Amino acid sequence: MISVVILVVSTQLLPAQGFHAVVDHDDIGVGTRSLEVDLSLDLSRVVREVDERFLSVAIDASLVAEEKLMYLLGSPKLRTLAKALAPSYLRFGGTMQDFMVFSSEKFFTQSHEDSCEKMELPPLLEERLKKQWTRQQVLLQKEDLQMKYRRVKFTEYSVDLLTSFANCTEMDLIFGLNALLRTSDNIWNSSNARSLIKYCESKQYRISWELGNEPNSYEKKAGIRVSGSQLGEDFVHLREILRESKLYHNRGLYGPDISQPRDHRKDLLQGFLSTGSQAINACTWHHYYVNGREATLADFISPEVLDSLGVKISEVLESVQLMSPGMRSWLGESSSAYGGGAEGLSDAFVAGFMWLDKLGLAAKMGLDVVIRQVLIGSGTYHLVDDNLDPLPDYWLSLLYKRLVGPEVLMVNTLPVAGLQNQRKKVRVYLHCADRNRGYSKGAITLMAMNLGARPSRLTLPAQLSLGTVEGFVLQSDQPDEAGLYSRSVMLNEKLLQMLDDHTLPELKGNILPPADHLLLPGFSLAFFVFTEAQAAACQ
Ligand SMILES: *[C@@H]1O[C@H](CO)[C@@H](O)[C@H](O)[C@H]1NC(C)=O
Ligand SMILES: *[C@@H]1O[C@H](CO)[C@@H](O)[C@H](O)[C@H]1NC(C)=O
Repeated sequence: MISVVILVVSTQLLPAQGFHAVVDHDDIGVGTRSLEVDLSLDLSRVVREVDERFLSVAIDASLVAEEKLMYLLGSPKLRTLAKALAPSYLRFGGTMQDFMVFSSEKFFTQSHEDSCEKMELPPLLEERLKKQWTRQQVLLQKEDLQMKYRRVKFTEYSVDLLTSFANCTEMDLIFGLNALLRTSDNIWNSSNARSLIKYCESKQYRISWELGNEPNSYEKKAGIRVSGSQLGEDFVHLREILRESKLYHNRGLYGPDISQPRDHRKDLLQGFLSTGSQAINACTWHHYYVNGREATLADFISPEVLDSLGVKISEVLESVQLMSPGMRSWLGESSSAYGGGAEGLSDAFVAGFMWLDKLGLAAKMGLDVVIRQVLIGSGTYHLVDDNLDPLPDYWLSLLYKRLVGPEVLMVNTLPVAGLQNQRKKVRVYLHCADRNRGYSKGAITLMAMNLGARPSRLTLPAQLSLGTVEGFVLQSDQPDEAGLYSRSVMLNEKLLQMLDDHTLPELKGNILPPADHLLLPGFSLAFFVFTEAQAAACQ
């Protein structure tokens, strides 16, 4: 461990004028002196390693409610954006998955030879579908609010479009099957899943599987109660079906996709694992920090709210290790705020603090994969807007993919008595740099975020102050607190935008000369790549 220096915080107080509700008194002094934070880190040891698809994304199954909207997956723009996030899992699931019934209609058959280009959506049709999708989302949100779900039929169309999207973006598709199709004995009725699997097999579609979404709320959503142990047996049943398939006998099966532990959900998880753990490849659960209808701006930059994820991870890992030692654990669906996101916040620049902190904390604490709700879906926590243009969290995800490798290293901000509150506004995570993206052996990537308005100065250990650093600093395109609500983001003071539907901008770091510190502007998210760190852990 290398740990240095002292933490100095400006005590110089300025009049509090001009500050809004979320900026507490700790931030008084903005513009005078920066918040000093010292980093202590360990470059000798990899703490743990995550899946190379650690940052993954979901398409909400509600897209299928109006089946023609699945054609949106042919959008060249959406495909360009998705492909840049590969390698990644692509989960197709969510509340609607338990109301979806596959219905075979032979009139549509796509030849397997169709190329990715041929499947692209013509611009005029794309414009029309986007308008319909905007209207459809209002309807979906209303249904969600009233918890009134209608059964939805989907055909080969949807399956073909979805698998074409996954294939052409090089993402690994996970398809969520309906677990609410049940017999009178309350056992999963697999007959519909069998016909879907049979169809997918006939097309040689590469798919992994899930069964059921948030079974803890089946009673609320559908008036059906399913115990954890029964659900585990249903998974064993599905595993047997897959085992009989040449194509799927060793593909992944993930579950039970329960909501974060609270009340009886813990029992549900343990019951599930007691009967179903041999059937699954990873244990999945869902996490949202806050209720989208109540969330405030302050929640999104609150260290306490961000820390709450750590408590949940510990609880789940404890249950999983107790019941199935060695079992991997995933955030199978995750975002900022449940109920479709927090309006005006979950799709804004400020959402990045929850997103990057979740990625950092989940990797550090032992989760293997985090699936972001959603790449595209109704609500406001999507990565692309209604025009399919990338939102700030998309750009953040893209930078993460380019710069952050799977090996987690230890880093801490140095605690100083009495200044805990200050220090907590700067949060840091450390990984080896992504070698698949051309970084050399020993390079490391520091993720740093500043939740406060006051700029911060991160003091580096001597060993890191000798090499060059590539700095990628994300800030809102607008200053101060108002900027937190922006749907645009700047990288190193340059607005991020696609060049055209097939082309992303070059994401270039600023080369920073060797120094004993890094500057982190107020309300910023940053990646610093130490290309010459020669970390023993990253050789
Ligand atoms: C799958 O993707 C490859 C390129 O990544 C493409 O050549 C092929 O045609 C695609 N197949 C289908 C069915 O889309
Ligand atoms: C399962 O569902 C199918 C319809 O999809 C039905 O024909 C069959 O009778 C059901 N089986 C049981 C045991 O409920």
